[in-house]
Amino acid sequence: MILVTGGAGFIGSNFVLDWLGTGHAHRDEPVLNLDKLTYAGNLENLASLQGDARHVFVQGDIGDSALLTCLLAEHRPRAVVNFAAESHVDRSIHGPEDFIQTNIVGTFRLLEAVRAYWSGLNEPTRSAFRFLHVSTDEVYGSLAAQDPAFTEAHSYEPNSPYSASKAASDHLVRAYHHTYGLPVLTTNCSNNYGPYHFPEKLIPLMIVNAIDGKPLPVYGDGMQVRDWLYVKDHCSAVREVLVSGRVGETYNVGGWNEKPNIEIVKTLCTLLDELHPRGDGQAYARQISYVKDRPGHDRRYAIDARKLERELGWKPTETFETGIRKTVEWYLQNPDWVARVQSGAYRDWVQKQYA
Ligand code: NAD
Ligand code: DAU
Repeated sequence: MILVTGGAGFIGSNFVLDWLGTGHAHRDEPVLNLDKLTYAGNLENLASLQGDARHVFVQGDIGDSALLTCLLAEHRPRAVVNFAAESHVDRSIHGPEDFIQTNIVGTFRLLEAVRAYWSGLNEPTRSAFRFLHVSTDEVYGSLAAQDPAFTEAHSYEPNSPYSASKAASDHLVRAYHHTYGLPVLTTNCSNNYGPYHFPEKLIPLMIVNAIDGKPLPVYGDGMQVRDWLYVKDHCSAVREVLVSGRVGETYNVGGWNEKPNIEIVKTLCTLLDELHPRGDGQAYARQISYVKDRPGHDRRYAIDARKLERELGWKPTETFETGIRKTVEWYLQNPDWVARVQSGAYRDWVQKQYA
């Protein structure tokens, strides 16, 4: 069994579905999914796993030491994959407290509980154990237009409360390896997009606002650059690193898809013009509205993912063109999911299904 934290969120739920899906060797290995079900956690993403004995869900906090100790003793996982976090930069600017609590204190408590459990394991289980920490490219700070992409050797220069809290958690993970020998792995990934993405983040927000006839708020001049990776490619990268990554190493994960935000928004508008034309025949681009910039907005992220390709043979399978089309199609095909998330009713849905 593996313990996945934050497995009801965007990437975590895609990961659980991928792990228990087809096409690789691990699909029979059960997942213990520990998630606090904050506003970002949505068990509806995992509805297809209802009644599947390979998926054990526990609602709880990675900062709850007593719960962690019990869960580890009872389920005896051979690995932990830590997705649980507060993940939205704008929310971290308006209220950093939860980010400090979950991303730093929560990761610390998780590491402590795992260290105690791992220390009590016998060989060879102890050496084979892995703690994989899922992190972000934002810990590296911001690049100028002419700078080379971030490698794993880039210094940590986080600029937002979110990225600072993730950087702190990365340092704790590193320290638990160097000090206690805990067999850790860290991945630093660029911007994900795809199914089950909460519509507070750029791509899903633009899709649902466009369909609802609302403005498409582009921060500042819209020329900030992000590197975009289809979420299922991130999941396969995490799986590869968990299986074959070198203990103590960090791996950058990215899609080689650098794009300015305004180009992303215009691409979404063009796809929607084709797949779901506006009733009045006008272009969705009419809804684009430039708004005040995000405070401290990082100008550019770019990921050099060559280490992961060189050492583990991982490469993304989706191009931006294929991935973004699939994403728009998914949102168009799942209006009920969108409506329940927008209205907050996804929480009632979960309570009914899991009562
Ligand atoms: P998300 O906000 O969609 O999901 C986070 C999940 O964690 C939710 O299900 C939430 O309920 C859960 N959670 C929050 N606090 C918790 C706590 N204290 N205890 C247990 N569960 C808790 O986030 P996401 O976009 O899926 O990101 C997952 C991870 O990947 C995060 O660590 C994030 O920093 C990292 N990451 C995200 C991206 C991206 O583009 N979204 C890119 C790189 C790295
Ligand atoms: O780089 C990886 C990171 O990507 C992850 O670690 C974070 O968890 C994830 O949320 C994401 O952070 P960003 O801040 O890059 O994502 P977001 O979707 O919030 O914004 C993407 C870009 O679009 C960013 O430059 C801000 C801009 N933006 C965002 C929103 C929500 C807009 O212009 N308008 C918007 O309404």
